[in-house]
Amino acid sequence: MKTPFKPIVYLLITVAFTACSENKKEQKTEVQIPDSNPVFDEAYRPQYHFTPAKNWMNDPNGMVYLDGEYHLFYQHNPDSNVWGPMHWGHAVSSDMLHWEHLPIALYPDSLGTIFSGSAVIDKGNTSGLGEGGKNPMIAIFTYHHPEKSQTQGIAYSNDKGRTWTKYENNPVLENPGIPDFRDPKVSWYDLGDGTGKWIMTLAVKNKISFYSSPNLLDWEHESDFNPTWASYGGVWECPDLFPLMDQEGHEKWVLLVSINPGGPNGGSATQYFTGNFDGKSFSADGNEIKWIDYGADNYAGVTWSDIPKSDGRRLFLGWMSNWQYANVVPTNVWRSAMTLPRNLELFNLEGKDLLASRPVKEIKTLYDNSEKIEATSHLLRDGLFHLDLKKTEGSSATIKLSNALEEEVVLKIQEDKIVFDRSKSGQVEFNQEFQAIHEAPLNGLEIYDISIYSDKSSLEIFFNDGELVLTEILFPNSPLLKLDLEGIENNGEVHYLNSTW
Ligand code: FRU
Repeated sequence: MKTPFKPIVYLLITVAFTACSENKKEQKTEVQIPDSNPVFDEAYRPQYHFTPAKNWMNDPNGMVYLDGEYHLFYQHNPDSNVWGPMHWGHAVSSDMLHWEHLPIALYPDSLGTIFSGSAVIDKGNTSGLGEGGKNPMIAIFTYHHPEKSQTQGIAYSNDKGRTWTKYENNPVLENPGIPDFRDPKVSWYDLGDGTGKWIMTLAVKNKISFYSSPNLLDWEHESDFNPTWASYGGVWECPDLFPLMDQEGHEKWVLLVSINPGGPNGGSATQYFTGNFDGKSFSADGNEIKWIDYGADNYAGVTWSDIPKSDGRRLFLGWMSNWQYANVVPTNVWRSAMTLPRNLELFNLEGKDLLASRPVKEIKTLYDNSEKIEATSHLLRDGLFHLDLKKTEGSSATIKLSNALEEEVVLKIQEDKIVFDRSKSGQVEFNQEFQAIHEAPLNGLEIYDISIYSDKSSLEIFFNDGELVLTEILFPNSPLLKLDLEGIENNGEVHYLNSTW
């Protein structure tokens, strides 16, 4: 069954004309023609993950919720399928799965191209940029300029993100002389007495800097965070800071820091810290490096702002690729997808607070037919599925997905680690690093449940409902539908998933 929803894809047609003025200045007018019937059926086009309609995408940006709409902005090069001058692409959704593509929100200007950042609803109109007593939507982003370096700018919208105006006194935060100074994630910090302040969490080469502001326009440096024991294999990027309840119901703060390269399985990955934030500085519990995902393909992920208290979830989305090979993966019309949306929760293992990433419950609305998996070999009917398996207690386990071309991926759960091999998964030659075998240490975690979400060119593997995660892209020449199992109970189930297009 196909869902009746159809996204509206806007085709941007640029009409250039020469004005008959003294200076013969070229002007550009953009005409947007909605194409209500896009074809999203290319060989590797994800069917229930977000992709740009055309061309290049990297990090999710400006994720904010307003009036029933999840906004997703993203790093976008509208003119090519490789990274280049960055814009903010834009889409909205009512469930984080069915997306409506909207026109580009932010274009480069004389201060630079538009790198990653966040968006908030300015409740109380602290910035004064709201019209007619409304609370504006404010985007806070990095301007990247080859000579002027990186600064932070803001833009505002008074029509639910449909049109944007850059703030006239940009940048709001000048560069202090450090080339890597980017990816502001802004949130409201409640001081508990009815007042509060904005906090900007910023990646500054290999540390996180916190700034505060009463109005999103004037920023003051508060503190830096860079403990000696953290992972410094690459540049720190795309941070996020938010509170979560621990298992005992106490508030803990979580700091996400993406790092490239230096990930546990090569290239890009996201480390996180749990601890305390007092409105000025962050202090971490323990001194252990923790990773949000051990797969190679979950980078620059951050969480949605302004999710209503009545929902209460901390919703996360990552970019499903890796800078090692993102520019050369074998797709042409578009490049890159986002991960499934995930709900972040803390759990405790041997006295440590760890972050679980659980697929959002909305995914179940895509369920079509289900089948029992009762034998050790099973032929799946379709490549869009959620496979739900229970591991046999005490033994090791192997899960293999393959096709008649002898292409395969193999997942092994051993006593102390997980091993994932995509080296024979189809098209792998485009990059040497892509063929690496990935490992995730279990660190005392006992695996009982394995949940695998398969789309046209990705597998997202959640162990124990997200206590350990591997997100992996792959490009088989035909779907991997033959399932072979060892060390798995005979009460598994597969739920086939409907496409969201
Ligand atoms: C992370 C990143 C960010 C930067 C953006 C540029 O993938 O390098 O630090 O803002 O991509 O596209």
